[in-house]
Amino acid sequence: MRKARIAVLVSGGGTNLQALMDSERAGVISEGEIKLVISDNRDAYAIQRAKNYNIETEVLLRKDFPSREDHEKALVGTLKDHDIDLIVLAGFMSILSPYFIDSFRDRIINIHPSLIPSFCGKGFYGLKVHEAALSYGVKVTGATVHYVNEIPDGGKIIIQKAVEVKDGDTPEILQRRVMEEAEWKILPKACQMVCQKILEEEANAE
Ligand code: GRF
Repeated sequence: MRKARIAVLVSGGGTNLQALMDSERAGVISEGEIKLVISDNRDAYAIQRAKNYNIETEVLLRKDFPSREDHEKALVGTLKDHDIDLIVLAGFMSILSPYFIDSFRDRIINIHPSLIPSFCGKGFYGLKVHEAALSYGVKVTGATVHYVNEIPDGGKIIIQKAVEVKDGDTPEILQRRVMEEAEWKILPKACQMVCQKILEEEANAE
């Protein structure tokens, strides 16, 4: 049976991408293969990580296109050219328009560093999520992998994992613990689950 073709969209350090590539190699993602990594930031270390794994990379910068629509058209075109089945947003900082989402309905997943519906939606990204969790005083936070729809962080939840908040945590310390204990584990698992589903649906349609 064929494997689902995965593209990972990144903007930064790419530790989640690293977890995905390692999991593919370890057989955790057995029904998918990462075929393409797209970055909207030329300096993203994630690009180097992909190159180290011999995965094709594309850099598509917003500033190289006259409008956001043109940038997204280029993204969609590149993904279609590579016959991508599943798009994984792994620290991708551009917000996607309904046009993009509609082009890959139920084929886009995202990792968010909190237990949705807490500390999510517009404005909650990066360290801001952990700052908000600490200032609210929650004792448990975590990470969520969900489908992407038109509502920021509002699509159907696929997997969540809880992480303890400890006394003396700073946003940076908490961010690291959420990555290590939750994000790097549930993103590969969710990827495998969605790849399986895609292939099953395809087999049933035949
Ligand atoms: C992660 O915290 C992820 O949850 C969020 O952005 C961060 C990306 O980190 N969406 P990395 O680039 O995978 O290291």
